Amino acid sequence: MRDSKPPIKIAITGAAGQIGYALLFRMASGEMFGPDQPMILHLIEVPSEKAMKAANGLIMELHDCAFPLLLKGTVITSDALEGFRGANWCLLVGAKPRGRGMERSDLLKENGRIFIEQGNAIEKAAADDCRVVIVGNPVNTNAMILSSRLKRFDADRVTAMMRLDENRARARLARKANVSVRDVSEIYVLGNHSPTMFPTFHTAKIQGKPAVEAIRDLNWLRGEFIDVVGKRGAAIISARGASSAASAANGLIDHVRDMLTPGKIHTLGIQSKGHYGFDPNVWAGMPVRTTGPGNFEVVKDLPLDDFAREKVAASNKELLEERAAVKGML
Ligand code: NAD
Ligand code: LMR
Repeated sequence: MRDSKPPIKIAITGAAGQIGYALLFRMASGEMFGPDQPMILHLIEVPSEKAMKAANGLIMELHDCAFPLLLKGTVITSDALEGFRGANWCLLVGAKPRGRGMERSDLLKENGRIFIEQGNAIEKAAADDCRVVIVGNPVNTNAMILSSRLKRFDADRVTAMMRLDENRARARLARKANVSVRDVSEIYVLGNHSPTMFPTFHTAKIQGKPAVEAIRDLNWLRGEFIDVVGKRGAAIISARGASSAASAANGLIDHVRDMLTPGKIHTLGIQSKGHYGFDPNVWAGMPVRTTGPGNFEVVKDLPLDDFAREKVAASNKELLEERAAVKGML
């Protein structure tokens, strides 16, 4: 059977890592770009023998799955220019994860450098319609660093993955209300991918009814709920001894798929233009509506009460502190 669409090129950094392993098979099976979208994969890894061999083994396994969409071509490289050449989507996963007792911002200096180099390579080599998604932590500020290298592409081309946080918040509300996650809607995440993030329980609906009325426990929503969602990454590290991988890959699949689904409203980390009180030029989580494949507009009319405004201000302050800490990289 002939392919109905021309293939797209997808560059994935850190492909041989934990998230890469949880991501690539689902992507290749069509969950991210659709069941009729052929793909060419460019796997970008560090130039160590171990990483190159692991990436090669991954490609072998992908072949062995006999996914019909795949393997219009695969490239394994440690050369960023080669890896990003002609890429329509750049999924930037490759970066160091935090360990126990660290905050994500502790990774700023080390990981920030990666995004300078990759930004330069994307500017030179990626396709004109390229979209870049940052996963490596600290994700919001890395998106800012990378975007500062781009002249050819508007800042809206660079999004930071906050969908894992939205999914965590939805799942937690569903468990508390003892309903299916399908029954929970209109929950988004404002701010930084850090414990200061604010999951908007006050806008959420459970079976169409405000979550605040369905749950009837404002103290839990304002306290434990926000705390558990904001610190879930650390709780996973403490439980698994390694940071979230399958749920992160799942968040990335949701992020990209919903960016390709017109009308969908979902959380993306994007460059603030002042919405919701976030300083211009920090990358903050907020709800967007997909307007066309890879394009979105901010949903501007989420109501904020005094409690929400206070939370947003605290997250904005942290984002500004991160921006100040990487001033030399921008
Ligand atoms: P991992 O250590 O298992 O894998 C990272 C991979 O990236 C390694 O194979 C490494 O060789 C590679 N790498 C490092 N520098 C690179 C570079 N310059 N170019 C290409 N590849 C490079 O880590 P992981 O668990 O897969 O996590 C990856 C990143 O994602 C971490 O920074 C982690 O904190 C972050 N993360 C983000 C979220 C989120 O919600 N945004 C969720 C989970 C993890
Ligand atoms: C997560 O939220 O699981 C990731 O950002 C990994 C981490 O460091 O918490």
